[in-house]
Amino acid sequence: MSVFRAIYTSQPFGYDEAILSSILMQARKANARDDITGALICRADIYLQWLEGPEDKVRDAIRRISRDDRHLDVQLLVAEPAEARVFGDWAMLHDPAKTWIWSQAEIADGALDRATPEEITGFFLHLAEASDAEPSGT
Ligand SMILES: Cc1cc2nc3c(=O)[nH]c(=O)nc-3n(C[C@H](O)[C@H](O)[C@H](O)COP(=O)(O)O)c2cc1C
Repeated sequence: MSVFRAIYTSQPFGYDEAILSSILMQARKANARDDITGALICRADIYLQWLEGPEDKVRDAIRRISRDDRHLDVQLLVAEPAEARVFGDWAMLHDPAKTWIWSQAEIADGALDRATPEEITGFFLHLAEASDAEPSGT
């Protein structure tokens, strides 16, 4: 079965632990229903999310997510067919982006605008590898 992958970034609006857990709970429930898997890199200043699955389901999810008022300025960075899933074991892996993504100062300075789709994809591949080594890290 062919897989479609999309990556977007957005700016959290009202970010705290309670909001994040409710987003993750909602995401995991809907994604299990829709055969979507992926990862959400999240921090007070940035969301970066990878969604993969059937193209129609991924596009529907992105449409719903774009309307969500818990974040702003949703920008689609990657939308393309893929050979296989990268996060097949996770309805939505969650990563708090502590060390390997840009610093808050770099984000504020426009690091995201300068990043290429390959660089962004690379972040997630790195995360998938790290998570394979530590499956309890979901
Ligand atoms: C940062 C963020 C990530 C989200 N991730 C997903 C997701 O992976 N899948 C999903 O179905 N909904 C996700 N949501 C929630 C959707 O925006 C939406 O609330 C949910 O799909 C329910 O939509 P509905 O009330 O129109 O059915 C996310 C929301 C935010 C703010």
